Order: sequence, then structure tokens, then C-alpha cells
Amino acid sequence: MIEIKNLSITYGEHTIVDDVTLTVKKGEKVGIVGESGSGKSITALSVVKLLPEHLKVNGTVKVNGRNIYAVSEKELNKKIRWKTVSVIFQDPSSALNPLLKIGVQIEEAIVYHESRPSSVREKTISLLKKAAIADAEIKYNSYPHQLSGGLKQRVMIAMAIACNPDFIIADEPTTALDKKTEKEILNLLNDLVNRQNTGLLFISHDFEIISEITDRVYVMYAGYIMESGKTADVLKNPLHPYTKGLIACIPKVKGTGKRKLPVLPGHVPDIKSRPSGCPFHPRCERADNICRKKLPEITNINDREVRCFFPVQS
Ligand SMILES: Nc1ncnc2c1ncn2[C@@H]1O[C@H](COP(=O)(O)OP(=O)(O)O)[C@@H](O)[C@H]1O
Ligand SMILES: [Mg+2]
Repeated sequence: MIEIKNLSITYGEHTIVDDVTLTVKKGEKVGIVGESGSGKSITALSVVKLLPEHLKVNGTVKVNGRNIYAVSEKELNKKIRWKTVSVIFQDPSSALNPLLKIGVQIEEAIVYHESRPSSVREKTISLLKKAAIADAEIKYNSYPHQLSGGLKQRVMIAMAIACNPDFIIADEPTTALDKKTEKEILNLLNDLVNRQNTGLLFISHDFEIISEITDRVYVMYAGYIMESGKTADVLKNPLHPYTKGLIACIPKVKGTGKRKLPVLPGHVPDIKSRPSGCPFHPRCERADNICRKKLPEITNINDREVRCFFPVQS
């Protein structure tokens, strides 16, 4: 299990992420959704301890019971990263070495983690095939720049599953791709995690994608979890005004005629100018005096959690 408890991440005097508590069990598909700048990537990077050094971390992050911030860098590299938790980023180019053939890069990851890999080439080719890469033998010998964005992301997925991790964190893995490729990559990821019972932490700014791939979701805004629950419940009956706004941005494909896409007015505050009280209050139509003064605690409503003084009633 991935267990994040009361996580806060600061940059000097500025808070990037605060009081984040989140779990992902093996076999579960969990989302983090929120606009750009909400702290999603920073939260994800904290799970594998890949945060830049100038950021300070408080709270606990455990993976299968091990406190990530108490294990050595060597153990992290040998036993945790790739082997227990692998991460797929938005931009595969930055994660792939431009100077090495992709087959060699996958093999390096396998050889590093498995003491006596037999027939590592065959294993690599079978991973490329699992990632539904056509002509796997030819692509094995390709350099990253010879592949399209979608293919590079498939290579990242092949790498991510190479050491049979318990968990995959996918941070906006399709944001840079066209709609058709996006769909294909999402289906692939979905099939692979279902087949191997992998836990998935899927990050996106787009609630529509989150609703397609996850069972449970955390809505993040300005470094805080604003709401969480089963994805279907949250979609049907959002409790936080912010969640409601995010869902209103999902384009409706059904129906006739052209419809103007509603946008959520305003933007996520910069870490240097976070408002007092509830960070969403300047954009919230329900905001009252207390919202400007006090940060709401997370409260339970039925099976759901929300951080709001005036949750939306259905
Ligand atoms: N290395 C860093 N140092 C300082 N601040 C950062 C760093 N990376 C991100 N931030 C800030 O932290 C906030 C959250 O960033 P991020 O986690 O990337 O958001 P998201 O992934 O939701 O778009 C942003 O305001 C961003 O400017
Ligand atoms: Mg991000």
C-alpha cells in the first residue's frame, strides 16, 4: 500500500502541499485531479523521494509499510523505485536518454534490479509487445527521437512494468498527446494494471479522464485535498464547489447544438500568494466570512470527505 499521512512540503517559508493524506492499495485505481499548480506532481514525486533538495518534507510516506524517508538512497534505488513503485511522466522525452537505444534503456533497468536476468533481450522485447508496440524487434533498436510521442509513452509504460511493480504512478501521461493516442494509451494502461493487479495513482487536470480510469479520486487545490471519494459518487454529486466547477468543465459530447464550454473563472494562486482561510475562497460563489479567515478541516459526509464549510447539497 502507498500511505501518505499529513504530508506537507515547503519551499522556504512557502507551503506547496499541506495536510495531504492519501492511500492507494494494490489493485486500486486512484486519481488526483486539480488544475495546474495544485501540487499534484509534487505529491507524486514525494512517494518515490524524487523531490528537489530545496523542498522540505514533513509527515509520513510509506510504501508497503516502509517509511520512504527513513530508507537509504541505495535501498530506494534497488528496492523501491521501478521495483515497487514506477513513475510515468507527462513528457517521456525527459525521462528517456536520447543517446541510448530504447531496448538498451529497458535492459539497464531490468539488469539493475534483477540479480541474474536470463535472456534479458527476450524479456525486453516481450515488454515492448505488452505495451502494444508493433515491430518490437525493430523498435528495440530505435533511439527515442525516432519515435512519435505516443510510442515514446508506450516505451515508458514498458519500462514502468519491467520489474513488475506493485504500484504505477502516472503523472498526466497523456496530456501531450492527441485525443486518439490518448485513448489508446489509457486503454493500454488500464489493461496492464487490471491484468497484473497493480495499484495505480493516476494524475490529471481533466476530470473526464479521471472518471474513465479511476475508482476513487482526490480533488486537489492549492496544495490541499478538497474532496475525496468514489469517483462515480464524486462525479454524480460533488460536495466541494471547486469539484463542481471542475466537473462543469467536462465537455458534454451528447446532445445537439453547439454549447459554450464553461470555464472555472480565476486561477490557482501562486505558492507565494496563497489567500488566507480556504485557498479557494476568492473563486468561490459560496464563500462567507469564515472562509476568508479559517481553513476548513476535512469532514465526513456519509462515505465521503470534503474540506468545506458550505458543501454543495444535492
Ligand atoms: N522545484 C520547485 N520549487 C519550488 N516550487 C515548486 C517546485 N516545483 C513546483 N513548485 C510550485 O509548487 C506548486 C505545485 O506544483 P506542481 O506539483 O507541479 O503542480 P501540478 O502538478 O498540480 O500542476 C506550484 O505553485 C509550483 O510553482
Ligand atoms: Mg504536474
